[in-house]
Amino acid sequence: MKRLLVTGGAGFIGSNFTRYMLQTYDDLQLVVYDKLTYAGRLENLQDVARDFAGRYAFVQGDIADQALVAQTTRSHAIDTIVNFAAETHVDRSILDPDAFIRTSCLGTYALLEVARAQGLRFHHISTDEVYGFVREGASVEADPLAPRSPYAASKASADLLTLAYHVTYGLPVTITRGANNIGPYQYPEKVVPLFVTNALDNVPLPVYGDGMQMRDYQYVIDHCEGVDAVLRKGQLGEVYNIGTGHELPNLEMVEIILSRLGKPRSLIHFVEDRAGHDRRYSLNVDKIRALGWQPRHTCQAAIALTVDWYAANDWWWRPIKAGEFREYYARQYGQRAVLGVGQ
Ligand code: NAD
Ligand code: DAU
Repeated sequence: MKRLLVTGGAGFIGSNFTRYMLQTYDDLQLVVYDKLTYAGRLENLQDVARDFAGRYAFVQGDIADQALVAQTTRSHAIDTIVNFAAETHVDRSILDPDAFIRTSCLGTYALLEVARAQGLRFHHISTDEVYGFVREGASVEADPLAPRSPYAASKASADLLTLAYHVTYGLPVTITRGANNIGPYQYPEKVVPLFVTNALDNVPLPVYGDGMQMRDYQYVIDHCEGVDAVLRKGQLGEVYNIGTGHELPNLEMVEIILSRLGKPRSLIHFVEDRAGHDRRYSLNVDKIRALGWQPRHTCQAAIALTVDWYAANDWWWRPIKAGEFREYYARQYGQRAVLGVGQ
């Protein structure tokens, strides 16, 4: 692994991963390949472009454009593709699934074809959502996939294609399935940055349903270290879960945000639930721990660090919330009935 292509590298996790890898490995050359959708932002990489000018390059393109991917990997002599590119917001997938299917299914297929033709290592970034609603216990990698949203189904499709290319063509692949990531540069449609930035502006926090859904909020750099561990030590053809291994109810996450910012519970607005909302995800992370990786942050610590980053970096999120986001917010939340207010 000396010459990486990081697809979706201008997004939240991809940009953190890009920075982490260039800081960690002096001999690494890295190319970010990204379509720059609403979620892909060059601001996320501005320090990377400045600090690693000789070892970093950016190419704008769609992963479904097989010819451009092939030309990029060839011209940069890439040996490994790490695929972060996807449409990633569950609520948007419910409003409009089309781009989710195109990118995760057709896009991943195009990347796999390039990897097969050029003999490249392929690592695919997946999600705990492919296991579906976990009623009890924790998901292990061999569990059947039972995705329940268009987003989760598009991600599960990409996982299955990736594994099929290993079995059929012997392609050297690995997959990681991450729990909810939080940290710097997450687009403020996702719950933690949405709630922190709303709270900073004294705008209500729209908590879906009863707020008792369980999520494992992991710090993004812990996830990046896990992906790195699998790239270096993972067994080809295998899947690895990445998370803290502990989940908490959304309401506890909200309480941490409000108390850290000194804001009142009256900002909590319980609103109509998400359609098909998975009430709980839970990951067993023993398999990746056996590679020597472990998370450095609890969910609580990750939430606190994330609150502090957004509080200190409104230069990043204010322009986003003033743009396309306003229209999205009205469409997503405008019609939702408010069922109660926090006391
Ligand atoms: P994000 O929405 O912040 O970034 C996605 C990036 O992909 C953007 O830069 C976007 O421009 C790019 N992209 C989208 N479609 C593309 C296409 N067709 N061609 C090229 N680039 C395209 O998402 P994120 O939260 O950083 O997630 C990254 C990956 O991690 C995704 O695959 C996601 O499913 C997975 N994941 C995310 C989480 C999480 O909590 N955010 C957890 C587990 C797994
Ligand atoms: O679990 C991994 C997944 O985490 C990733 O694969 C996805 O890309 C990522 O978006 C995330 O999905 P979630 O649906 O879990 O994340 P989101 O931030 O949208 O919501 C987290 C929880 O908060 C979920 O239970 C829904 C709830 N929620 C969300 C929003 C946006 C609210 O209560 N109100 C909201 O306004």
